[in-house]
Amino acid sequence: MHLSLRFIVPLTVALALLAYLLVPLVDKLALRWWINDLDTRSELVANTLQGQLAGAIEQGSTTKVEQIFMRALQDERLYALAFCDERGKMRYSTPTYPSTLGCRPPASAEGEAHSVIRLRQGPLHVVQRPLFEGADRIGTLILVHDMSFVDRRSADTRLYLIGLFVVLGVVVSLVTVSIAHLSWRGWVAGVRSLLRGEGILQPFSRPGSSPVHPLASELRALLRELDQSRRGRDQSAIWSPEMLRNVLHEQLLGDEVLVVSNREPFIHNRDGDEITLLRPASGLVTALEPVMRACSGTWIAHGSGSADRETADARGRLRVPPDNPSYTLRRVWLSAEEERGYYNGFANEGLWPLCHIAHVRPVFRSADWEQYLRVNRRFADAVRDEVRTDDPVVLVQDYHLALVPRMIRERLPKATIIMFWHIPWPNPESFSICPWREELLEGMLGSTILGFHTRFHCQNFVETVDRHLEARIERESSTISYGGQLTRVESYPISIQWPPEWIDSQLSVSLCRAKVLRIEKLADDVLVGIGVDRMDYTKGILERFLAVERLLEVHPEFIGRFVLVQIAAPSRSSLDEYHNFEMRVRALAARINATFGRDGYEPIRLKVEHHGSQSVNEYYRAADVCIVTSLHDGMNLVAKEFVASRDDEQGVLVLSQFTGAARELPDALIVNPYHIENCADALYKALTMPTDEKRVRMRSMRRLVQEFNVYRWAGSMLLDAARLRQRQRVSARIFAHQRDAGIEA
Ligand code: F6P
Repeated sequence: MHLSLRFIVPLTVALALLAYLLVPLVDKLALRWWINDLDTRSELVANTLQGQLAGAIEQGSTTKVEQIFMRALQDERLYALAFCDERGKMRYSTPTYPSTLGCRPPASAEGEAHSVIRLRQGPLHVVQRPLFEGADRIGTLILVHDMSFVDRRSADTRLYLIGLFVVLGVVVSLVTVSIAHLSWRGWVAGVRSLLRGEGILQPFSRPGSSPVHPLASELRALLRELDQSRRGRDQSAIWSPEMLRNVLHEQLLGDEVLVVSNREPFIHNRDGDEITLLRPASGLVTALEPVMRACSGTWIAHGSGSADRETADARGRLRVPPDNPSYTLRRVWLSAEEERGYYNGFANEGLWPLCHIAHVRPVFRSADWEQYLRVNRRFADAVRDEVRTDDPVVLVQDYHLALVPRMIRERLPKATIIMFWHIPWPNPESFSICPWREELLEGMLGSTILGFHTRFHCQNFVETVDRHLEARIERESSTISYGGQLTRVESYPISIQWPPEWIDSQLSVSLCRAKVLRIEKLADDVLVGIGVDRMDYTKGILERFLAVERLLEVHPEFIGRFVLVQIAAPSRSSLDEYHNFEMRVRALAARINATFGRDGYEPIRLKVEHHGSQSVNEYYRAADVCIVTSLHDGMNLVAKEFVASRDDEQGVLVLSQFTGAARELPDALIVNPYHIENCADALYKALTMPTDEKRVRMRSMRRLVQEFNVYRWAGSMLLDAARLRQRQRVSARIFAHQRDAGIEA
């Protein structure tokens, strides 16, 4: 201890002294770097503005010049701009331009492009650049950068540097003292063993091992660690829950995040004395659940389960997932009448067929609209009740809640609202069928960002707004300005989590196959097709069955050798359209089975029941081909789930050209579900495809789904939101400055 103090104290003092002496040097060096940086930035800005500015000045258009200046000022550090003509007369300047500078700011030091001056506003970096129209010099552009950040940074640097040296001092002293202690003890032990007539290295070596082994294994471990960290860094292009959390902490400064959707991620149902937990068959839930696990926050949704009230607290709250609580679910209660009008009626009999254009007539009733309005208000109120801050990030989901963004904007003007539309957006003609089209569009334009799966849907939306509202549309930047609110319309293709959910606990592909063949009572050599959907008329289930029928007609060798297992989760069954559809699906399956069935063989196994995601994963892994034939689908996550499940790089995906997924997975066999022969041919190709071709296609699709996973989907929306928040803060600063200048004037 005595020895340690004798080492540590003087060494720490010496290093602190060294740091104290080094600080001014580092300060000077850093200042030089920042100034060089600002010189380059000024040069860049001046070059960028040159053409546009000279043109506007020549036209004498004050508005244009001001617009160019204000746009340039979006750069956070650029503080002010001015233009003086050749006679040294100030012609244009931004409101932030210090009047004391005039057209002749203090001269630069010899050979320097800039001057640094201190005014009431703080240190400023000033650069003058000649402005040319063709070959003629028409005046001087003065660029002023705010340098107050340099003072702040250098104070921070000073603090860190001194801290670093102190810590370094302590560490170096401790290491030195420890080594000295060890050497001393080793030397003493060595001397003792020598005195006992043993080898000097023995105290350090394990019995039976060479004395150098511990060092070698430590070195290997270190190299492994380095290698791992390097690999981690190389793979950082792949989004993960950690990266998403980092975006929240670093870019959004840990701001509050809320999700609002109709469907809840966990439904509690009463089954006699028991309460069962259901994870609904919903693309929205599949995508958002892992995101919420990663970033915590609150998810507000309709509590639709028969035991939902008894499993939540008095305010409808509970922590989920039940086995590993990581975020809060806040349930919103709806009466049977509200649910009928808002969910069954307006959302699913009106908007759903309107947006999908799957040849089912949309039905719009005033009474349903009233309920839709009322329930949307309830969700917006729930957001207001749940928030802890006045500028949260709120992710509003889907067509059930089109009015919610504007309602939240009215309650929380500073919120960043991202609305994601999970289903297609139709063309303007089709959308004009809706009697409340203007109200819906106005509601959605309360968002800061409006997301669709594809560019095509974004364009349809922008065209629809152009047709129905008096809005200003900037097509190049994909923004819509309506009622003083700016909304960015962007495509964010949704996806699934990667690594896939069951990666660590799933059965091998061969065991999955054996299990599925056993459950379905199928022979070992049977080829299995799989379809997984909600029982919905947009999913092309009838068309899929007709394609199987056609395959068996044209290639009778597959009779008895091919079976399509169709999992169809019951959905919206209280609606006539869905009830009738289910009847038609059952009847068609029965007809095809009657035609081709024999001795226990049925080509179509229709399973109208809910399957948990683990069980669905086993069917995916057991299948030779997965068939997705949606007539229209925003994305379709079944296609991506199938690809993610096939770590054996086998199995073929047959995919409808009318899904968003078809744009991302060109290695699938892309089909037109309205063309039955085309689908039957694709099925035949899938069932006879060579192993190598399957591998090449599946490998490429897996790479895509891995890279464009759900964390990237959420991350890019949140990053865009963070950038917009940043820009808003800068604009607020400029406005405040202009206002102050106005008051002074
Ligand atoms: O993915 C589209 C979608 O409409 C989601 O909005 C919805 O959660 C899902 O399909 C299932 O529908 P529902 O919530 O009506 O059961």
